[in-house]
Amino acid sequence: MKKRVVFNQKGGVGKSTITVNLAAAAAQAGRRVLVLDLDPQGNATRYLLGDAASTVEPHLGGFFDQMLNYSLYAKPTAEFIHATPFDNLFVLPSHPSIAEQQTKLEARYKIYKLRETLAELEDRFDEVWIDTPPALNFFTLSALIAANGCLIPFDCDAFSRQALLGLIERVDEIRADHNAALKVEGIIVNQFQPRANLPQRMVTELQEQGLPVLPQFLSSSVRIRESHERAVPVVFMEGKHKLAAEFSALYAVLPA
Ligand SMILES: Nc1ncnc2c1ncn2[C@@H]1O[C@H](COP(=O)(O)OP(=O)(O)OP(=O)(O)O)[C@@H](O)[C@H]1O
Ligand SMILES: [Mg+2]
Repeated sequence: MKKRVVFNQKGGVGKSTITVNLAAAAAQAGRRVLVLDLDPQGNATRYLLGDAASTVEPHLGGFFDQMLNYSLYAKPTAEFIHATPFDNLFVLPSHPSIAEQQTKLEARYKIYKLRETLAELEDRFDEVWIDTPPALNFFTLSALIAANGCLIPFDCDAFSRQALLGLIERVDEIRADHNAALKVEGIIVNQFQPRANLPQRMVTELQEQGLPVLPQFLSSSVRIRESHERAVPVVFMEGKHKLAAEFSALYAVLPA
């Protein structure tokens, strides 16, 4: 089972958008796909479920509750997984309450639990896509320990380039200390503006530094906002749109 985490400590670089749309591209390609939303903001959950995201139960908060309060009557993990309106695409929804659970989970050494949980789902899904909050905290660390692939969105901004190098070092450290299976599969260039000089130069510099920039870039498009508002991933929106084709092409160049 492919287990990918989309990670960048920087906020607003496109993690949730990319997680949901690549997961959707995978589902469209006939793979059985689970999106695991580890961000208390729940943006990926809302993107997939729309208004139903506010009431969906049980959610990740309940799942972590069970982890913290042992009970013989614990629900199996499968019960926390919900269908989405899209074929082959499932979600383990987030909830704002997980923000407060973090300290307890950390204090009780639950950092390897997510890895065990995903191992239980090995036969149910072909791919798991994990969306993470913009921080290097318990949730992101758990995800990096559980995953075998890491994708890093990059938004072509000078500040973010500096942070990128530090971030890749942290992922290397996590691989060395906790998870030999973890591989940085690539940097995803998002909101790329082909006509501007600076983004092109920055991407070339990353490539010259030997960083694994994926060959398919994602353009900036107002269609993304519409897609979020309608809670329909761009690959499932009607009409052939450039960005939908870009997500499918990006999915196709990912390592198997
Ligand atoms: N290719 C794109 N074109 C246009 N807008 C985009 C694109 N990618 C992302 N956005 C917009 O940028 C904003 C941030 O995207 P998103 O929520 O996916 O980032 P994030 O990294 O998950 O943020 P956070 O760190 O808060 O979780 C959103 O408003 C989204 O609509
Ligand atoms: Mg997000």
